[in-house]
Amino acid sequence: MSLDALLQAARADVEGALDRWLPPAAREPRRLHEAMRYAVFAGGKRLRPAIASAACCAVGGTAALAMPAACALEMLHTYSLIHDDLPALDDDDLRRGRPTVHKNFDEATAILAGDALQTHAFEFLVVHVADPLRAVALVRELAVAAGTQGMVGGEMADLEAEGEQPDRASVEWIHERKTAALFSASAAMGGISGGADEAQLTALRQYGVALGLAFQVVDDILDETSDSATLGKSAGKDRAAHKMTYPAAVGLDASRQRATHFAQQAQHALDAWPDRDSVASLVALAEFTVTRIS
Ligand code: IPE
Ligand code: IPE
Ligand code: MG
Ligand code: MG
Ligand code: MG
Repeated sequence: MSLDALLQAARADVEGALDRWLPPAAREPRRLHEAMRYAVFAGGKRLRPAIASAACCAVGGTAALAMPAACALEMLHTYSLIHDDLPALDDDDLRRGRPTVHKNFDEATAILAGDALQTHAFEFLVVHVADPLRAVALVRELAVAAGTQGMVGGEMADLEAEGEQPDRASVEWIHERKTAALFSASAAMGGISGGADEAQLTALRQYGVALGLAFQVVDDILDETSDSATLGKSAGKDRAAHKMTYPAAVGLDASRQRATHFAQQAQHALDAWPDRDSVASLVALAEFTVTRIS
C-alpha cells in the first residue's frame, strides 16, 4: 500500500469508528459531547492511528485488529491538544484549522472535554478489545505513555523550560516525553493488537521513540518556517513564548539534520524484520515525518 493510501485508509477507518463510538452530540451533557466531537472531527493527520495500523500489519495482524488502539490513541492525542492549547499552557487560538476548543466553547468546557476524551480512550480499550490480557497490555502501554513519565510529564517540563537557556539535551528530554512517548505507544499498541512477541515490541517501541523525536523536531522547525494557514495552528508562537525548541537550541540547519537522523534511526530499528515488505509502511511513515509540510 502506498503511504497516501495508508494514511487515507487509516483516516477513514478511524474517523468512522470514532463517529460510531463517541457519545452523540445530542446526548446530555450536550455541550461536553459537542466539544469532544468538535475537537476530534476537526481534521487531524491521524498519524498515530496510521502508525498503530501499520505496526499491527507488520506483525501479521490487520488494520481492523488495530482499530480499538487507533481510536484510543487519537482520543488521547486530541485531549492532549485541547489542554496544550489552554491559556494556562500554550494559550493558542487556532488548532486543526479552527478556533481552539476554549475559544469556540469556553475554558471549563475545554478542560472537561479533554478529561472526557482521556477517560473515554481507556474505556474504549477495555470495552472493544475482546482478549482481557491484550486489553490490559494496551491500557498499560497507553497509561504509561500518557502519564508523568510520558506526555504529561513532558508538557510540565516544556512549560518549566520557557525562558531557560536552550540546550540540546534538555530539548530532547522534553521531546522524548511530550511527543515521542505517545509515538512509541502507537507502534507498540499496534504490535500488541496484532500479537507481537517481546522482541518485536522492543523494536517497535524503539522505532516509535525515534519517529516521535523526528516528528517533534519538524514540528519545531515548521513553527518557525511555515505559516498558520498551512499548519492549521498559529505559526511563530514558540519563539514568542521563549519555548525551548530544537531550532532555539541548535539552529534550523542542524535541526533539519537531526530530524533526518532520527527518521533514519526509526527505520534502522526495523532492520531485524526478515520480511521487508511487512515494514514498508512503517519505513514510509518515517520518511513522511520529515518531509511533511503540516
Ligand atoms: C501536534 O500533533 C502535536 C505535537 C505532538 C507536535 P499532530 O501534528 O499529529 O496534530 P494533528 O493530529 O495532525 O492535528
Ligand atoms: C505539544 O507540543 C505536544 C503535546 C503533547 C500536545 P507543541 O506545543 O509544540 O504542539 P503544537 O505545536 O501546539 O501542536
Ligand atoms: Mg506545548
Ligand atoms: Mg502547543
Ligand atoms: Mg509545536
